[in-house]
Amino acid sequence: MTTVLDVQRFKDEGRRFAVLTAYDYLSAKILDEAGLPVLLVGDSLGMVMLGYPTTLPVTLDDMLHHAKAVARGSRQALLVGDMPFMSYHASTEQAIISAGRFLQEAGMHAVKLEGGGPVIEITRRLTELGIPVMGHLGLTPQSVHAMGGFKVQGKTDAQAARILADARALEQAGAFSLVLEGVPSKLAVDVTKALRIPTIGIGAGPGTDGQVLVLHDMLGLTTGKAPKFVKRYANLAEEITRAAKSYAEDVRNGTFPGPEHEYSANGSAPAKDREEVRYGPG
Ligand code: KIV
Repeated sequence: MTTVLDVQRFKDEGRRFAVLTAYDYLSAKILDEAGLPVLLVGDSLGMVMLGYPTTLPVTLDDMLHHAKAVARGSRQALLVGDMPFMSYHASTEQAIISAGRFLQEAGMHAVKLEGGGPVIEITRRLTELGIPVMGHLGLTPQSVHAMGGFKVQGKTDAQAARILADARALEQAGAFSLVLEGVPSKLAVDVTKALRIPTIGIGAGPGTDGQVLVLHDMLGLTTGKAPKFVKRYANLAEEITRAAKSYAEDVRNGTFPGPEHEYSANGSAPAKDREEVRYGPG
């Protein structure tokens, strides 16, 4: 199983690594078996799975529900649970209780928190308590209103210096890795060189130690224009549309179900068939 020590080793040995988001049992199982070393149960699930316009409405219970499903599907990946808006903002004590639930109830191995400033002290406490923390700087979607929209961060010298200082402080506080989202490539390279811990970029150029993408973006399940930093490795929205239309057409014209889909009097029992499909662990 991948651990936080392995992730550090990747950086030490100069091995770039890929991270994907996962929100449910079946996709976690597929990604885990595909060998992804780290799966992030991101609060982006609010937009991708729940249809919210931002991540702000996502609750801790929403996150735990999805995190549990991901843990059931995964065997080898390091699982990181994203702490949602207002699950760590009120106090360090609240952060400890929320993070503890990710590990104790949902089977996550680490948590991710957005921001620097007060989050640095929270990171220190969680780390001291044995809860590994992934930091997240740059475009931090939970601060969308403070940033005036989903905008690239760190473009001015002052902003870049702030991000670099926060990155150093998070490392000092014990974070085991750091997501850099929506920052200029040069800043991502500067932070990556300045830190011992691995950086994981999204919209931060090629100079970070790892990369993370939202699964549904890279699979082409999210429709509309993809953000510039996304590469679509498949076009599943088109594939699903084609399959759904084809199924509906088969039902309309009576070609589905065909003889091969019927149970005969002495055939296998439907319950046994369902087991073979393996919806559950196995
Ligand atoms: O919520 C999420 O999926 C994230 C990644 C995009 C880093 O935070």
